[in-house]
Amino acid sequence: MNGKGGRVRIGMVGAGNISGQYLKTISRLDALELTAVADLDLSRAEAVATAHGAVTEDLDGLLGRADVDVVLNLTVPQAHAQVSSAAIRAGKGVYVEKPFAADVAAGREVLNQARRAQVVIGSAPDTVLGSGVQTARAALDAGRIGTPTSATATLIIPGHEAWHPNPDFYYQPGGGPLMDMGPYYLTALVTLLGPVQQVIGAASALRDERIIGSGPRTGERIPVTTPSHVTGALVHAGGAVSTVVMSFDGAATHAAPIEIQGTEGALAVPDPNHFDGTVSLARRGAPWQELPVSAGYRGASRGYGIADLLWSGAWDGDPRKGRSQGELGLHVLEVMEGLLASAESGRAVVMTTTVKRPEPVPLSSG
Ligand SMILES: NC(=O)c1ccc[n+]([C@@H]2O[C@H](COP(=O)([O-])OP(=O)(O)OC[C@H]3O[C@@H](n4cnc5c(N)ncnc54)[C@H](O)[C@@H]3O)[C@@H](O)[C@H]2O)c1
Repeated sequence: MNGKGGRVRIGMVGAGNISGQYLKTISRLDALELTAVADLDLSRAEAVATAHGAVTEDLDGLLGRADVDVVLNLTVPQAHAQVSSAAIRAGKGVYVEKPFAADVAAGREVLNQARRAQVVIGSAPDTVLGSGVQTARAALDAGRIGTPTSATATLIIPGHEAWHPNPDFYYQPGGGPLMDMGPYYLTALVTLLGPVQQVIGAASALRDERIIGSGPRTGERIPVTTPSHVTGALVHAGGAVSTVVMSFDGAATHAAPIEIQGTEGALAVPDPNHFDGTVSLARRGAPWQELPVSAGYRGASRGYGIADLLWSGAWDGDPRKGRSQGELGLHVLEVMEGLLASAESGRAVVMTTTVKRPEPVPLSSG
């Protein structure tokens, strides 16, 4: 349909852990329809396809189908660029899970390829389209805290090996708290404060081994080959400065996930890994007050980013319409790569990519 008729037909590639959340959204939104599923593990693809009235294909078969408008790329990060690229070559749109690609060079190539082919390219996370970050954005844009001057973004947890039965990848290059969780926080910061011009990072690792805490490998030691604590400063093009702490090395924290300070007040923003949550405002000298929900897709869930591209007209002649654009995914990836490079070199890293601050989302249920 390519937008006409108000539906986008999805070919899902990668039917693992996160696919269930997308499938729930696809089932409840008229804008989305699942037509085909592929996975290296055929039995996984078959199980999803059968349960959702779609067909099972291998990747080439899926890409050759006329009833696939967009490839929903839910593969592992190392395969993101390769699968996105194959989809674009087949003339399909793409919506890819985070991170946009395993590294900026590969991500830039994919984005250029999509722009040349004039196909839609969208990128997770779409949590920022929900009522949490969007209500904060509306308060910010209405001047409730004056001019924003700085922000803090904090994720401090003990690490996923306590509950994840195969946590190895979280402690290898491409994993770590920044690459794993950073996309939510950084996409929110760019949505709230605009693009980043320069980053300065510092990083460390508490231990060189972690011990698996659940499942059949309980007690097994796994090596740590990437920083498990990453911190840094982001200088936004608009002048605000954000401080970011992403850590698998902490015990506990009371810090708000994101706080924005301005000349007249402060905003506490809920967990950007979720779509909703309470936003609080403190005007200078006054107590904190909770703000009513005033913007964003109410009750949103993973997959709204694809629907938003459709509703915004990305399939009606201009693939750049809509909010969760590839440029945003690539910019966030460059911020993450820059923080890690800066931590290694001890020098600031200037961003080569930029992005327009995405349009706000008016309050709606989609
Ligand atoms: N699991 C989560 O809680 C979560 C949350 C948010 C985002 N994500 C992101 O979603 C993506 C997938 O994560 P997951 O947890 O579902 O991983 P997973 O390992 O459970 O599933 C990935 C699936 O992709 C398939 N696959 C890998 N390479 C492929 C290829 N080249 N062609 C076809 N299929 C291929 C695998 O066989 C597997 O079934 C990652 O980018 C991750 O960062 C995961």
